[in-house]
Amino acid sequence: MKFNSEGLKEITGIYGPSGHEEKVVAYIQEAMKDYVDEMTVDSLGNLIAHKKGMGPKVMIAGHMDQIGLMVTDVDDKGFVRFTNVGGIMMEVTIGQRFIFEDGRIGIVGREEKQAIEKSRLEHLYLDIGAKTKEEALGWVSIGDICVYYSEYVESEHTAMARAMDDRIGCFVMMEALKRLEKVENDCYFVFTAQEEVGTRGARTSAYRIEPDVGLAVDITLSGDTPEAKRFAVSLHDGVAIKVRDNSLLSHPKVNDRLIALCEKHTIKYQMEVLEFGGTDAGAMSLTKEGVPASCLSIPTRYGHSDHEVISKEDVEAAIQLLVKSLETPFEI
Ligand code: CO
Ligand code: ZN
Repeated sequence: MKFNSEGLKEITGIYGPSGHEEKVVAYIQEAMKDYVDEMTVDSLGNLIAHKKGMGPKVMIAGHMDQIGLMVTDVDDKGFVRFTNVGGIMMEVTIGQRFIFEDGRIGIVGREEKQAIEKSRLEHLYLDIGAKTKEEALGWVSIGDICVYYSEYVESEHTAMARAMDDRIGCFVMMEALKRLEKVENDCYFVFTAQEEVGTRGARTSAYRIEPDVGLAVDITLSGDTPEAKRFAVSLHDGVAIKVRDNSLLSHPKVNDRLIALCEKHTIKYQMEVLEFGGTDAGAMSLTKEGVPASCLSIPTRYGHSDHEVISKEDVEAAIQLLVKSLETPFEI
């Protein structure tokens, strides 16, 4: 199957920090209109795409929102101070370019009064090129959010972009929808809002849908870079089936089924035990009386930076596994 480079480039380039997912919603609605039975946007901003089937209700969740910086105030010289929206890491933020919704770009600088190791987010500022406070406040307002600014890059085997977390999950869901013909499960593809600030969209949408099974599609880390922390997940080793993270213990029956499908259809997979973090799968699993859930993870290098790297083969494996999972009815 040819990799849809154009589609991935487009979806990773859309502005959509937590709480401001509208542009991503519009893009997915337009792209998916011929592949689903109906689409609705709920009050929190989740896009729910329903592909009807007779079997159990399966909710598939991938989050649209990306992390960013929110303007808190502007100083007398026009330097912009900010707080984080989601898991911004200081060490990959200094020196980076960020872009606001209207296209204005700022560079992150650091106060030099303390050593770099002692710097915190509150010691950083955004230089948007303003000469005065008034000029800066004419361009940005308190509460505005900017996101990483970088170019999409692709090689033979990998792709590198900002917001791969979790537009790659949205991408996997969209590619799966294009390939799915008849589904044996009643499928709710939920492109969720506000995951990066605590899996909020998955929580409200799962409450509405009341799924029998929940599957998230999100990134995970990779343990394959030089001297990386021990983590048995690598790029190019296939889709990662999550066993745990701090929000979830995947349901063994769901995982057994995913593994069996990989074996049957020779889809490359690996098992993921993540010692921290959480995903929409965790939120789904705690809905009402509990929902059996798991997560198809895409191994990713440099998560939450402006250049998150994935393997195109792993993405293809995730698409195939999602398609096979939905074509045959879940038995829980
Ligand atoms: Co994230
Ligand atoms: Zn994510």
